[in-house]
Amino acid sequence: MIKKAVIPAAGFGTRFLPATKAQPKEMLPIVDTPVIQYVVQECVDSGIEDILIISGKGKRSIEDHFDRNFELEKRINEREDEFWYNQIKHLEELANIHYVRQKELNGLGDAIYHARHHCGNEPFAVLLGDTILDAVIPVTQQLIDIYDQYNSTVIAVERVSKDKVNRYGIVGGNMISDRITELNEMVEKPEIGKAPSNLAIAGRYILTPEIFKAIEKTSRGKGNEIQLTDALRIILAQEKIMSYTIEGKRYDIGNKIDFLKTTVEFALKRDEFREPFTEYLKDLVKKL
Ligand code: UTP
Repeated sequence: MIKKAVIPAAGFGTRFLPATKAQPKEMLPIVDTPVIQYVVQECVDSGIEDILIISGKGKRSIEDHFDRNFELEKRINEREDEFWYNQIKHLEELANIHYVRQKELNGLGDAIYHARHHCGNEPFAVLLGDTILDAVIPVTQQLIDIYDQYNSTVIAVERVSKDKVNRYGIVGGNMISDRITELNEMVEKPEIGKAPSNLAIAGRYILTPEIFKAIEKTSRGKGNEIQLTDALRIILAQEKIMSYTIEGKRYDIGNKIDFLKTTVEFALKRDEFREPFTEYLKDLVKKL
């Protein structure tokens, strides 16, 4: 039973400067909703309401976003705007969210290590705060189902084209079914041609509490940071790790081009924008 989720959201977001100089990339809106709200919603839709956000310098607006705002509630209530009143109340009551600050940005592995007191001896889900996974069945729910089957660490992966493997953590192993692989290899951003597969780690994990001991043993790796993939390699030497090729699509908004694509695709999914925005895009394409 997975009852807790950890959302690392402390990173600098250097790939999105200057927007991220004084505001979190996790708060960048996709149409009108901050990325991290999609991520918290995925937890809730997967049956998890106990969420720990790894926060840090310049990330206060994340806490404010999920906190109550009495003045705003009062103002909307006075205007008798029932729709927005309910939306705001829903957001404020979405989940039971806790925060811990990562004081020095020592990488994703170090960020997860800050969850050790909150998670204790329980397995937990990890959802990167800058990545939206659009799926019919929430991806975290998909991973929980695999965890229940194998009782081991589960990593969400997606297939990427072979010329892009050097951008991701790549896994390799023995395929057990169409979507499930028992891993024997994990490499962070391998050179093209040297990757064990084209299965890229997709920003969602189910981890066991053993990860905390593994992180303690992990020395600094790529970028002089404590890499989660390196800690997972220590786990792999001791126990099974499964990967699951997700049913859904990954949107990594940490890089600008993916952010732009995500904005367009999500706008086209919205009833109120689909028609006018499609018209606009068609006109624009004609002029290109
Ligand atoms: P990224 O790998 O995208 O790193 O983090 P980053 O530092 O935020 O961004 P760039 O590369 O400088 O542009 C993936 C997720 O892990 C969090 C980030 O906030 C993001 O949601 N993270 C990363 C931490 O919480 N702490 C860290 O030390 C690093």
